Amino acid sequence: MVLLQQLKESIDYIRRNSKLRPRVGLTLGSGLSNFIKSVSVEASISYGDIPHFAPSTVDGHPGNLILGRVEETPVVIMQGRIHFYEGHPMERVVYPTRVMAQLGIEKLILTNAAGGLDPQMHPGDFMLIRDHINLMGTNPLIGPNIAELGLRFPDMSEAYDREMLERLKSILSRRGVRHTTGIYCGVSGPTYETPAEVRFLQNVGGQAVGMSTVPETIAAKHMGLRVCGISCITNLAAGLSKQKITHEEVKEIGRQVEQNFAEFLVEFIADL
Ligand code: HPA
Repeated sequence: MVLLQQLKESIDYIRRNSKLRPRVGLTLGSGLSNFIKSVSVEASISYGDIPHFAPSTVDGHPGNLILGRVEETPVVIMQGRIHFYEGHPMERVVYPTRVMAQLGIEKLILTNAAGGLDPQMHPGDFMLIRDHINLMGTNPLIGPNIAELGLRFPDMSEAYDREMLERLKSILSRRGVRHTTGIYCGVSGPTYETPAEVRFLQNVGGQAVGMSTVPETIAAKHMGLRVCGISCITNLAAGLSKQKITHEEVKEIGRQVEQNFAEFLVEFIADL
């Protein structure tokens, strides 16, 4: 299998750069990459240097794989992710997730910037992902199944780990950080939604919309990981406020929540 061989080559390269054996994986969303300041970094490897990794082309997504520790917990961090809208096939979008799984992590934390579908939300709120709806029109597991990686038909009845979600919820409540739990709708982008699409997403039961996370969760569940998803609501979705949506605004809200985000995430990871 070509994919298995590629994964082996990526893992060999990463292990030559760091002996650290991560237990937790973390993917940082738009505007959230400064979390890295809270990490004692052992190795920072540019995606471009890792065999078979696609480079990240999006402004606000630096493109480094970082191995290090958050307090005592050994972690591997994607500082910047690969998106479907960049034109990569789904298999490449989830490739780094598969690499993190094969590095030996048990738990994966996926973070993202998202539009709020609930008019009660405010930019800067967090939404802990309880479940998702895949509206990307495809699935990263389409194609021959590789039995060494996982099942042909993975169960998705608890895509987002309840225990991790409850733990994070209590940390946020104790810290007084504004948050909700809800359903994340994954769309392909790169356009933001039309107001009609936003009404559709509200009607199908979504509370947030974004262009990532869903493929990674699917690949992670395929490989048996426990997944936790955190959306930073950077804006109200189209039509819910008078403002137009821009990538600059999305990144700016990320910067504004940086301190809070880093503090609660450190507390969460330290205890995993
Ligand atoms: N829609 C989709 N993705 C997003 C949004 C949005 O409103 N905000 C940040 N990422």
